[in-house]
Order: sequence, then structure tokens, then C-alpha cells
Amino acid sequence: MGSALIDVEDLKARIERHFAAGADAVGDDAAMDAFVELRHALETGKLRSAEPDGDAPTGWRVNAWVKRGILLGFRIGKLTEMNGGGALSFLDKVTYPARSFTPEDGVRIVPGGSSVRSGAFVARGVVMMPPAYINVGAYVDEGTMVDSHALVGSCAQIGRRVHLSAGAQIGGVLEPVNASPVIIEDDVLVGGNTGVYEGTIVRRGAVLAAGTILTRGTPVYDVVHRAILKATAETPLIIPEGAVVVPGSRAVPAGYGRQMNLSVYTPVIVKYRDEKTDLSTTLEELLR
Ligand SMILES: CC(C)(COP(=O)(O)OP(=O)(O)OC[C@H]1O[C@@H](n2cnc3c(N)ncnc32)[C@H](O)[C@@H]1OP(=O)(O)O)[C@@H](O)C(=O)NCCC(=O)NCCS
Repeated sequence: MGSALIDVEDLKARIERHFAAGADAVGDDAAMDAFVELRHALETGKLRSAEPDGDAPTGWRVNAWVKRGILLGFRIGKLTEMNGGGALSFLDKVTYPARSFTPEDGVRIVPGGSSVRSGAFVARGVVMMPPAYINVGAYVDEGTMVDSHALVGSCAQIGRRVHLSAGAQIGGVLEPVNASPVIIEDDVLVGGNTGVYEGTIVRRGAVLAAGTILTRGTPVYDVVHRAILKATAETPLIIPEGAVVVPGSRAVPAGYGRQMNLSVYTPVIVKYRDEKTDLSTTLEELLR
């Protein structure tokens, strides 16, 4: 099953049809079949909710129909008991049970309250420390570390050898379906207690220092290039390749805020990756 080719156009047409059917898709076996095929394609990395595309302005293309397929899974899934029995009980849509893995998957999921939802792709060599959660539609590529209390939100795309440090929150997005998910490219270090939300793209090799928060509404001051980076109506906030971003603040320039000497939180690009950064961010290879 793992190496079987899928007919993407056919699957897309079926998903679109069942999604458009609204409540009529509930209880329709053909809708469930199409959804299960999509879910399997997501889990094996054959389909992605967003993927690299050199022709797209941001370098990434959102596959809105895949996201509609994920939403179809919520619509047609009834609530069911999962791993029921005993004192602990879990309830979720029957279409999105927790994934189970075998040693052949080449992934380490340390026991202790972590979960990977169906429809998420986790590549070989990924390590997940408990508790951590990877939601539907997310794509986590080879050699990435998902540390304790990290969240990989729905449809988020995480590259190779990324370190999602303890408490890192990578926001998810299912709706609106054409909204871009958060994208963390290869070799990024996402520091502890960091939050990356609302479709922000972090280019390869960038470093987000502990405590940095990035949203569509957060201007980022690049002191190296003397520029202010912001999301626009068409593009999300984009952190450039190799940027080292630290949490900073800036004085409120006018009005009551100035009178009261207030300042607001502002991420600052203090430099671009150098040898010192490489030393500070070296991953503990032996732990892998
Ligand atoms: C960003 C980080 C990697 C340091 O990178 P670095 O390249 O070694 O940075 P440097 O020490 O050369 O610092 C460059 C400048 O940024 C400032 N800076 C560095 N880290 C900072 C931080 N976290 N907050 C605010 N300022 C910071 C330094 O003071 C320095 O400013 P200066 O030139 O005016 O003195 C490190 O601070 C960090 O946040 N690491 C992640 C830690 C973490 O979350 N670990 C997770 C374990 S699970």
C-alpha cells in the first residue's frame, strides 16, 4: 500500500464533489472511501496541504482541495470512543484516531502523553519528546526534533532537521481553506516557548530565539538591513533565510503610550547566522 501510486486528479474530483454535497456526504460510503484515501496519502507524505512551488510568490503553494478533504473528514466522522476502557477515556471523530507506529517507521515517540493525529505525515528520523502533539495535515520532515510541550498545528509544514524546542507552538490553519499554513523550512531552530502563527514562513536556517512570537500583525525589525518586515494582504510575514530573531521591544512613539513610557513587544533580527550561532544551535547528535 505504501508505494502504490495515487490518481491525484481523480481523488481531487471525488473530494471536491463530496465536500460540495454538504450534509449529504454524512453516511455516504463513497465519501468515506475518498476521505480515507486522502488521509492515507497525507500520512505517507504523497500529498501535502501545502508544498514547495518555485512559481508561487512565497515559494509555497496551498492545496486548498486537500484542506477541504480534511474538513470533509470532520463532517462525516461520528464521535467515537478511542482506546476506551479504564479510568481514562478519549473521544474524537472516528475519522481522526491517533496514529500508531511500528519500529519500521523509524520514528521515536517517547512514551508520556504525545499523540500524532491521523492525516499527519511524520518522516523517518523524527523524534518526539512527551508531551507533544502533531495535528492533521501537518508535515514533519526527516531528522526533526519535536520537543516536550511542542505543538505542530493543523497543516503546518516543518522541514528537515528543524528543532522545535520545548514549548514551541506552531499554529494551525484549516479554515479559510486557501489560507497558508505556517511553514518552517529546513534547518531552522525554533527556540523554547516560541509561537509562530497565521501563515508565517520561516526560511531555511533561520533561528528564532527563545520566547519569540510571530503573527501576521507583528512587524519584525531587521537591524542588519535597516528594514521592517511585515505581512501584506497577499503575503504572510516571511523571516529571511539565516535570520537570527530575538524578542525585543520598542517605545510607543506617540500619545498616551509615549506619555506613560510604554513599549510594545517587537521581534528583532539582530544578525544573520554565523559560526557562533551554529555553535549555539548544534543539536545533540548523540541523543538521536
Ligand atoms: C538566538 C540564540 C541561538 C543565540 O544565537 P547567537 O548567534 O549565539 O547569538 P549571540 O549570542 O551572538 O547574540 C547576538 C545578539 O543578540 C542578543 N541575543 C541573543 N540571544 C538573545 C535572546 N534570546 N534574547 C534577546 N537578545 C538576545 C545578544 O545579546 C547579542 O546582542 P549584542 O550583539 O548587542 O550583544 C540563543 O539566544 C537562543 O535563543 N537559543 C535557543 C535556546 C532554546 O530555546 N533552547 C531550547 C532547548 S529545548
